[in-house]
Amino acid sequence: MSAALSCEDYERLAEEAVEPGPWAYLVGGAASETTLRANRAAFSRWAFRPRVLVDVENVTTETTVLGTPVSLPVLVAPVAYQALLHPDGECATGRAAAAEGTVFCVSTMTTRSHHEIAAAAPGLAQWCQLYVFRDAGATREHVDAAVDAGCGAIVLTVDTPLLGRRERDLRIGFEIPPELPLPYARATVGEAAHNPAAHFAKLSPSLTWRDLEWIAETSRLPIVLKGIVTREDALLAVEHGAAAIVVSNHGGRQLDGAPATLDALPEVVEAVAERVEVYLDGGIRRGTDVAKALALGARAVLAGRAPMFGLCAAGEQGVRHVLSLLRDELRLTLALLGCTSPEQVARVHVQPTVPYDSAA
Ligand SMILES: Cc1cc2nc3c(=O)[nH]c(=O)nc-3n(C[C@H](O)[C@H](O)[C@H](O)COP(=O)(O)O)c2cc1C
Repeated sequence: MSAALSCEDYERLAEEAVEPGPWAYLVGGAASETTLRANRAAFSRWAFRPRVLVDVENVTTETTVLGTPVSLPVLVAPVAYQALLHPDGECATGRAAAAEGTVFCVSTMTTRSHHEIAAAAPGLAQWCQLYVFRDAGATREHVDAAVDAGCGAIVLTVDTPLLGRRERDLRIGFEIPPELPLPYARATVGEAAHNPAAHFAKLSPSLTWRDLEWIAETSRLPIVLKGIVTREDALLAVEHGAAAIVVSNHGGRQLDGAPATLDALPEVVEAVAERVEVYLDGGIRRGTDVAKALALGARAVLAGRAPMFGLCAAGEQGVRHVLSLLRDELRLTLALLGCTSPEQVARVHVQPTVPYDSAA
């Protein structure tokens, strides 16, 4: 294949570039992968309602997330162990996010520290994704390091009290090398833990709403709760002081049978979007996917696997190209919808697709 023209092209290039173990870890979901597939399928159940004869000579994809300007409403989602995908790991992803003008959410399971990423990518808006260890001291140290390195928010992932059962990993025997640097996790997980399940066994399964308070107090940063798919939890999140919510099912990697995030988005938006920002992740591969999420009320989306396909295939340049493809596709989609900015995309710009038999 010559030049890649889409995230899908990068997916094919990525598969050729990495070993089968990390590939299984990257693309896999939990159990039967029902939710993994549902995330993608949900986008095709919505069609656009484009408006015409609107002056779209000047279209911007710029917006803000928690007050931070971004050049497109697509943030880079936290993805663990990036040095397994490319030797430059999170430093490459950080440089790409900075160059393309968006936020990079750095996983607790990062292979580069927040300081290293900040030094590699001056001007980057970094957010710290937090997993809370059973050892609260390790978590406090992690939060302190994130604050010290200038992170702008804590993205607390709340859908992972236990790790989902990822059968692709088990089938292929995916292992994490004991020498892989994990600046915020290695001291806690030790060197004997060779796979994600062993690492995640060190996380606290007894985290509750009450813990939000000490996390907010320790960091004094806005808290983004990632992994909510119900109005009930969205309301509790607001009650407990969350600044934003990510409607997420962890890319179909946790509870198999959880709803597609695009299907869960409207009830969360209806419950809380007037009070906090609502983002969505899961299955973002196209600018049209971003626009559908915006139409259903998301302020922005996070993309996990898509930028990682770029990382696998071509390091920093690959992540940059994926982000710029998503930006170009979104700009074109906005223009063809008759919108000149992400904020203009509204519920009136989409309709459910009508099955042929019921349309007859
Ligand atoms: C390989 C991989 C590792 C991930 N690691 C983390 C993580 O460390 N922390 C986290 O909150 N979410 C993690 N996620 C979930 C992503 O942040 C995000 O919710 C998901 O990938 C979105 O779906 P998408 O990959 O289809 O864009 C991971 C996802 C993948 C694919």
